[in-house]
Amino acid sequence: MSLKKNLLELSEKIESLSPVEGLGLLADLFPGKVVFSTSLGQEDQVITQLIADYHLPIHIFTLDTGRLFSETLDLLARTESRYKKRIQVYYPDREDIEDLVQKQGINGFYDSVENRKSCCYIRKVAPLKRALQGNSIWITGLRGEQSANRSSMKKLEWDEANQIIKYNPLLDWSFDEMLAYISAHNIPYNPLHDKGFISIGCAPCTRAILPGEDARAGRWWWEDSKKECGLHAK
Ligand code: ADX
Ligand code: SF4
Repeated sequence: MSLKKNLLELSEKIESLSPVEGLGLLADLFPGKVVFSTSLGQEDQVITQLIADYHLPIHIFTLDTGRLFSETLDLLARTESRYKKRIQVYYPDREDIEDLVQKQGINGFYDSVENRKSCCYIRKVAPLKRALQGNSIWITGLRGEQSANRSSMKKLEWDEANQIIKYNPLLDWSFDEMLAYISAHNIPYNPLHDKGFISIGCAPCTRAILPGEDARAGRWWWEDSKKECGLHAK
């Protein structure tokens, strides 16, 4: 099946399918070319459970930025042993990181939006491009409720930046629906979620949120700009 060609038709069909049906369909249509990026967040843990328990032939990877919480890396190890599945870890380019830190300092991302974007690019966006190379479908844990930008997305979309079809199987799941699923299936999750962290990224750029605050308010909290790092920016 060619990439962009049948996207519209497939997109309409997949809207009404459950996550596991959608994942299964894509794995059948694009054998060996379907990959899932997990940040080990709650949404992603649901998708990992589906892939593992339904034995779907979908490769799972994560991007280790070098600045993750130790709780996140512990969860990576726990998830691998729980589902008896290796999750491939991609790292940033060593030279790029050394140059970045030499230029802007170890925590230079606090100094300007430009610095922060350079850090996100080197630590996340560039390794993501490497991980997606040669594949046809990129699965993510995006949910529409997370932000205005995300609420306007479709489950199946063409991702221009990475020239790949992106599938967001949990796009229409509510937060409560996701928590209920995690509890019903005893899915391992990050203990930071119980301490007020909702959306979890790099440690220096994530804080807990207060009751009533927006779910993504704890990401790059010192900035007024759009709360996206470039992985999913439009
Ligand atoms: S971000 O753009 O703000 O960092 P967010 O944390 O909401 O993204 O996660 C949304 C989706 O992006 C996740 O479900 C996952 O598919 C992908 N993602 C985000 N961070 C990572 C990461 N470190 N490794 C792999 N995938 C990630
Ligand atoms: Fe760098 Fe912060 Fe972006 Fe992580 S979230 S890549 S530490 S700027």
